[in-house]
Parts: sequence; C-alpha cells; structure tokens
Amino acid sequence: MTEKATLTDKATLTVGDRSIELPVITGTENELAVDITSLRKETGMVTLDPGYVNTGSTLSSITYIDGENGILRYRGYPIEELAERSNFVETSYLLIKGELPNSEEYEKFRQKLRVHSMIHEDLKHFYDGFPSSAHPMAILSAMVCSLSTYYPEAVESEEDTDLTVCRLLSKVRTIAAYSFKKSVGQPFIYPNNSMSYCANFLYMMFGMPTEQYQPDPEVEKALNLLLILHADHEQNCSTSTVRMVGSSQTNLFACISAGICALWGALHGGANQRVLEQLEYIHESGGNVEKFVAGVKDKSEGQRLMGFGHRVYRNHDPRAKIIKEACHNLLNHLGVSDQYLDIALRLEEVALSDEYFIERKLYPNVDFYSGIMYRAMGIPTNMFTVMFALGRLPGWIAHWLEMRDSPDNRIHRPRQIYTGEKLRHYPA
Ligand code: ACO
Repeated sequence: MTEKATLTDKATLTVGDRSIELPVITGTENELAVDITSLRKETGMVTLDPGYVNTGSTLSSITYIDGENGILRYRGYPIEELAERSNFVETSYLLIKGELPNSEEYEKFRQKLRVHSMIHEDLKHFYDGFPSSAHPMAILSAMVCSLSTYYPEAVESEEDTDLTVCRLLSKVRTIAAYSFKKSVGQPFIYPNNSMSYCANFLYMMFGMPTEQYQPDPEVEKALNLLLILHADHEQNCSTSTVRMVGSSQTNLFACISAGICALWGALHGGANQRVLEQLEYIHESGGNVEKFVAGVKDKSEGQRLMGFGHRVYRNHDPRAKIIKEACHNLLNHLGVSDQYLDIALRLEEVALSDEYFIERKLYPNVDFYSGIMYRAMGIPTNMFTVMFALGRLPGWIAHWLEMRDSPDNRIHRPRQIYTGEKLRHYPA
C-alpha cells in the first residue's frame, strides 16, 4: 500500500503586517508542497499560476516523474523495466489496479478484454455519417462518447466499473482501427479474439476479408513497447482534463472522450503528427536542417521544433531514449531505411548542440521518434495521435478511478483574478 503524503513542516506567509502559517506536505519521494487550501478563508486571497506550471492539483499514487533526473515510474516500477519485460495489457492492469497481476488475475483480465472487443453493430453505422477525410481523432472522440448511449449503466457497482473499464480498453482499439478503415474506404475487419491485444489491433488495421493476415511478431512487440511508454504521465493536459470533467460526476466514456480532444492538440499528443509533417517539410525543401533550426530560433514564424521540449523533463525524456533505440531495431528488422529518420537524427544533433536549446533545456520528447516507428509499421500520419490515445487510455482510466474514489473529490473549479470593466450601467 502506498504511503500518503505527510504533514512535515509549516510555511509562513506574510502579507503586509499579517502572517499566516500554511502546512507543508511531503510525498513518498520527498516532493514538497505548500497546502494553500485555507489561504482564501484566512486572507481572502487566491494564488495565481497561469498554465498550472507550479500547481499540484491532487495527491496521486499512480505515476512518479522526476523531471530533473529523467525518471518515470508507474506504480513504483521504472519505465525501463516495464518497457523491457512487461506488455501493454499487464501494464494497463498495473496502472488501473495498482499492482502487477498474478497469472490468474492476468488471464482473467486478458479474457475480459478479449470478449469485449466488438462494437455494437448499430454503432458501426455512425461511421457512415463522417466524411472519409475526417480526422480520426474527431471520430475516436465522438465514438467513445457514443459508447455511453449503449452502456448507460456505467459504474454503479465495482463489478460494473470493472466491466466498463474492460469494455473501454477493448473497444477503443476496435474503434481506432475502424477509423483507419473508414479513412481508406476499406471494409471493417472484425476482431480476432484468438490474438493478443496488439496483434488483434494490427489485424483489424491491416487485415482484409480477401486474404490471410498474420501480424509480424516484431511489429507487435514494437507496438506493445510504444503503448507501454505512452500509458501514463501523471497530471498532463489530457489526464487533467479527464479528472476535471470527471469531477462533475459525468460518465467515464464522456471523460475519456474529453481527454481524447485535449490530447489532439499540437502541443500535446498531436505533436507526433506534427513531427512527421515537419520532417516531410524539411525533406521536401531540400533537407537543410540548419536552416530549419535557425528559423525555429528566429521565432518570426512562430514555428517550434515539434517533438522537442517538455514542461516537466529538463534533462532528458526517458521514453525518448527507449524509443530511439527501438526505432533503429524496428527499421533494421523490417529492412527499411527511412530518409526521415536521417533528418530526425541530424535535427536532434544540431538542436542538442545549439545554445538556444541548451539554455532552455529542450530535449527530444516521446513524440520525436515515435512517428517514424508508426510510419514503418504502415500507420498513416493522421493516425499517430490515435495511437497515443490508445496507449494513454489505461492512464486516463486509472486517474479517473483515483479521482472518483478520493475522499476529497470535489468538483474542480479554479478561481481567477478579474481584470475586466468595473461596474457600468446599460444605456438608458
Ligand atoms: N522549439 C523551440 N522553442 C521552444 C520549444 C520547441 N519545441 N519548446 C519550448 N521552446 C522555447 C519557448 O519558445 C520559450 O522560449 P523563450 O523563453 O525565449 O520565450 C521557452 O522554450 C519555454 O517554453 P514554454 O512554452 O514556456 O515551455 P512549456 O513548458 O510551457 O511548454 C511544450 C512545453 C508545450 C511541450 C513545449 O516545449 C513545446 O511546444 N514543444 C513542442 C511541441 C511538443 O513536442 N509537444 C509534445 C510534448 S510531450 C507530450 O505532450 C506528449
């Protein structure tokens, strides 16, 4: 059982001639926080922190990040060990339940994911309403929210919760694969429940009714790895969105749908698509990496180096390190040489030795190399963020459950400092 945060000290805040004491709490990894819950009651003041750069919104026992030292752990387990030895289904169980499953628990969980892989036949018709050019993230979000119309019972009891969670984990994979099939105008392929979670996804993506399709075990392994690396990242934009929406007590499907929308943006999960587009742009405009980096530094076009920088990591992103190596391995295995990988390697080299990036502590993040791996697997660029969502799903679910079960699960409702007009009256 994880220890709770403990009250370890007091901070004194002085405003004018008045001082108040605020509790200082310490987490299990010695992270310190000043608890300002009583600040407004005692002083009438609120804190101001645009973008929540320095605000802890919750206590959480799911994921630990030390951004200075490039550490990421799920439920205490280092990401490097999970990436090497676990698989996505087991990691999902770990995040959601808090412990690694024993073999019986694992089999039971896997079986549940297997039997809930199909979506209702009527739900398939929803795809007819989308244009074939629709972005798959829009389809994913709409379809996940629509699941709530088929499963309104949602989470009355623990058993219901378990069922809803397994339905989500399994069906989102099917919905994601069908979004791709819709975009290329191919028939939907029903899941093959004799396959593993990742193999089944590849089967629904690339299988055809007219021919046998057996996923390459190395591609399946690479997919497992990518999904594990994306599975959680504590209070990021989309996860905070899931918790925020969930705090109003809406259903889990709606919360995940909101999380998907938050993830879509270019500064968050949408960055993986933008990285590939950026590499494509550099390639098509002659491959001059130095010129591109100079343009980013110049800032006149508002262009950022996508896949670089992170709010929390200030040294390196441990996920990027693992992905870079896996990317080389996958390309070697597939016998693919990708000109975009060469550009990415050069971009990384140039940026990492440039004062602009060094000063600002900007390093490649998880999105920098993941797109090249997805591309090698045959996944189109506009599906990259969908892949991210598929990976992040167990993290969102774990946070939603933690939020729901917390004794302090009040509706999320930040304050503001009003800077508009003072009272004025409507013209007579
Ligand atoms: N390229 C160029 N400059 C950058 C980049 C970048 N990728 N990231 C940050 N900077 C610069 C900013 O312009 C700013 O410079 P300034 O001090 O001269 O004004 C400084 O670094 C700090 O940037 P902030 O925006 O304050 O950093 P913040 O922590 O708010 O943003 C973010 C983090 C959004 C990830 C940012 O680094 C970024 O936009 N990166 C590119 C998009 C990306 O890869 N997103 C994926 C993040 S990982 C994920 O969500 C899965």
